Amino acid sequence: MSLLCVDKLSVVLPGERVVWGRARGCEIVKAVSFEIAKGQTVSLVGESGSGKTTTGRALMKLAPVVAGQIFFDGVDLVPLLPWQFFPWRKRMQMIFQDPWHSLNPRLTIERILAEPFEIHFPGQDVSTRRACVAALLERVGLPKAFASRHPHELSGGQRQRIGIARALAVEPELLICDEPVSALDVVAQAQIITLLGRLQAELGFGCLFISHDLAVVEQISERVLVMQSGEIVEQGSVEELYSNPQHPYTRALMDAVPDIQRTPLQV
Ligand SMILES: Nc1ncnc2c1ncn2[C@@H]1O[C@H](COP(=O)(O)OP(=O)(O)O)[C@@H](O)[C@H]1O
Ligand SMILES: [Mg+2]
Repeated sequence: MSLLCVDKLSVVLPGERVVWGRARGCEIVKAVSFEIAKGQTVSLVGESGSGKTTTGRALMKLAPVVAGQIFFDGVDLVPLLPWQFFPWRKRMQMIFQDPWHSLNPRLTIERILAEPFEIHFPGQDVSTRRACVAALLERVGLPKAFASRHPHELSGGQRQRIGIARALAVEPELLICDEPVSALDVVAQAQIITLLGRLQAELGFGCLFISHDLAVVEQISERVLVMQSGEIVEQGSVEELYSNPQHPYTRALMDAVPDIQRTPLQV
């Protein structure tokens, strides 16, 4: 059985479309269907504004679903009320493009990483929690001493490591990564991609990797979903899709990837 099975999911956000003088919502995600198996990485690609973030947010019940179903481990999440959804939030986590905006600048890294434990394991004593935070820092390749720092004292790549550590604190079964490396330089990008791959091999979580960068997607995913204007126009394995794209939109996305010819240095 698949970990996540999304069936004809539609999301309508309040928009500026005016029909007969009245503002109506815009359908941002249109009857989207896909599956993610346990431990599998599936990428969602498409140009900016195609509805990728809204799809990810809808899975976390952060965007209004008007139709369709989201089966997580066989249970439909769509009809659940917020308090019913609470235990599921521990099983699926999301990391965001810009770690700067998703970390509270006033809190130390220790407090930021302790938060998920406070929410999901309220009875835990202080020394155990401190040990869990230290273990998390080690897991994402940061020194323990970073616990006393604030987010502004870290680089972009280090901040994204904290975002990843916070999401993995409760050992989720599904990680939704919304453009996690798009705000980083190429070196930090490569390090974060390697880290995510290593953590996935260790912890076995499934991953929905949202990106507009087809070069990164090719490296890390097994399947790819191509989204255009809120619809999935093509999906398939990385090998199929990259070697033989069928839809003109997929071909246009592929053509937009710069093909750098590396010539050896002459010394
Ligand atoms: N809160 C919102 N209210 C209304 N429209 C929104 C909101 N958030 C995003 N949109 C619109 O939804 C569309 C898809 O946005 P988004 O899901 O962020 O796309 P992507 O992540 O692929 O760039 C865009 O046209 C955007 O303007
Ligand atoms: Mg987005």
